[in-house]
Amino acid sequence: MRGDEGMTTVALRINGVEHSVAADGRRTLLEVLRDELGLTGAKRGCNQGVCGACTVLLDGRPVRACLSLAAACAGHEITTVEGLTEGNELTPVQQAFVEHGAVQCGFCTPGMVLTATALLKENPKPNVAEVRTALSGNLCRCSGYRKIVDAVVAAGGAR
Ligand code: FES
Ligand code: FES
Repeated sequence: MRGDEGMTTVALRINGVEHSVAADGRRTLLEVLRDELGLTGAKRGCNQGVCGACTVLLDGRPVRACLSLAAACAGHEITTVEGLTEGNELTPVQQAFVEHGAVQCGFCTPGMVLTATALLKENPKPNVAEVRTALSGNLCRCSGYRKIVDAVVAAGGAR
């Protein structure tokens, strides 16, 4: 990171690619992802840490991009929903969401999928209660929780 009249240039590694982005001390990771890099999979819902729509993975763990300062993410591996797949293949979690009808408007889906992906990495066969706990910070305004939970349980069972 280097200073330049109040702005700094920060090197962020996102989905395996290095990006050099401008950031002052207040610019959030969500602003960089959506407004500078065009990675709009991370959604801007509440923009204050409540809804989970902006969830991305930082070194494999779910974080709120709207609350994460971009400059603080330098040196970490950032994964957005765009980086989950190679080519057109869906991941097991994404496939399970499709098969279980767990996508309604889709606004919450990237955050749900990323949170579930992190859960399954730690706990490959979570039960319903464990899935509910893991997803408790991700809100779905379409109230599709049951199908979402079923999808994640199935994705775990499929492994
Ligand atoms: S937009 Fe970040 S938690 Fe709602
Ligand atoms: S599918 Fe619409 S917010 Fe969850």
